[in-house]
Amino acid sequence: MEKIIKGADIELRVEKLAFGGKAVAKVDGFVVFVDRAVPGQTVKALITRKKRNYAEARVIETLTQSPDYTSPVCPHFGICGGCSWQDIAYETQLFWKRAHVVECLQHIAGAGEAEVAPIIASPEELHYRNKMEFTFSERRWLLKEELDREFGRESLFALGLHIRGLFDKVLNIDTCFLQSLEASAILREVRQWAAKSGLPAYSIRTHQGFWRFLVIREAKSTGQILIHLITSGNPRADHSVDRLSDHLRSEFPRVTTLIHSINDKYSQVAIGDSSRILFGPGFIEERLGELRFQISPHSFFQTNTLGAHKLYETIGRLAGFDGTERVWDLYCGTGSIGLYIASLVRSVVGIELVEDAVHDARENCRINAIGNCSFLAGDLKDMIGKASEIGHPDVVIVDPPRAGMHPKVARALLEILPERIIAVSCNPASLARDAALLLGAYNIKDVQPIDLFPHTPHLECIVRFDKNLRSST
Ligand SMILES: C[S@@+](CC[C@H](N)C(=O)[O-])C[C@H]1O[C@@H](n2cnc3c(N)ncnc32)[C@H](O)[C@@H]1O
Repeated sequence: MEKIIKGADIELRVEKLAFGGKAVAKVDGFVVFVDRAVPGQTVKALITRKKRNYAEARVIETLTQSPDYTSPVCPHFGICGGCSWQDIAYETQLFWKRAHVVECLQHIAGAGEAEVAPIIASPEELHYRNKMEFTFSERRWLLKEELDREFGRESLFALGLHIRGLFDKVLNIDTCFLQSLEASAILREVRQWAAKSGLPAYSIRTHQGFWRFLVIREAKSTGQILIHLITSGNPRADHSVDRLSDHLRSEFPRVTTLIHSINDKYSQVAIGDSSRILFGPGFIEERLGELRFQISPHSFFQTNTLGAHKLYETIGRLAGFDGTERVWDLYCGTGSIGLYIASLVRSVVGIELVEDAVHDARENCRINAIGNCSFLAGDLKDMIGKASEIGHPDVVIVDPPRAGMHPKVARALLEILPERIIAVSCNPASLARDAALLLGAYNIKDVQPIDLFPHTPHLECIVRFDKNLRSST
């Protein structure tokens, strides 16, 4: 066995992609996680970390190429923290995503026998995102070839995405292939304009500076674009944002609304404490089939619009509704799943933590003239205890955040015992943990992975659980 010690160069044959995205090679059975490698490649790699059970390595040179390698389209690939799988053929990405669902169900839920359907591909591989969040910085990340040059303040001004693994370093992005070309043109224009404004970008070290985040949201069906600029509070600087807003309005007619929010908190989140609408209604309208959705700056909406449409269609198909069901849509966000299936069922009650999202859900219900849905705001771990006041559901749909359901929610479901539970998740590991809690009272009927995030290791997965005949209410 070649010596695996930190700092050593070693030749590795890359075998697979592990859950989380890293490539895996083995040396006499010892696992080496390799950053930025493609299964099938033979690489010369540098061991960067050695632990008792595994090591980590970085590719120095590709010795033989993999048939699954593909040239990345993006010039920022490898530096930007965005799409770590862009050099892996899309079919291969799909293969490994499905394999990770199988692995999680087997190892975490002990449900190795569950049949996992072929993964549904994203309708678009590039330009699929309807929302991108960019960060301003006063010290842009310099590429190797730029390190010796002198730069003035204006040319160190950055607006882009974080460097892989370094959340305080921002790379200027010219074109991001996850969003539309028009959104990239807006990004470049905002950067150029803000750099010339004389106002500095916000520094996360000194907490001084003005420009903080740019969020671009785009409705794929209507073409409407929402721009959300987040700055620190400085009323004397507002006129700069007003002028930028006028400029964008005249240059980009598809920008139908622009919102300026203030964030004076230290935490780096693209959310404002107070907002003003500079023009337009403050939201954009997206359509999924016949349904219309109003999307405002802080509302959650699946980031891959065409993929979301497939996801909701698939939820409806797997749930096998016959029109009589009373459905709960838990962790409902702006109500999109509930509203999408409303015409297939008797009634829907959605529950969601964020008041604004519930407001949007009710508004979406109203503009679509849907009469059988209602939405409640609150923390599910508390709300679920008051469930008897809402009545008994036949079907419960859960779509929790990445961490999965709160154990209280899972325990309550085991008391409520709806006929079916449809679990939707963007994290197969937490989905499998939730499944482990439900198995016994429930059997897994279907597992359907669906890719909403091409070129990243992420995916969505739907699991239908049917009440075990031995369980009773
Ligand atoms: C993955 S999103 C699902 C959104 C929605 N189902 C959709 O498809 O658009 C998860 C949602 O859970 C909400 N959430 C997070 N923690 C919660 C809690 N403790 N109680 C209720 N809702 C919560 C989040 O605000 C978010 O809207």
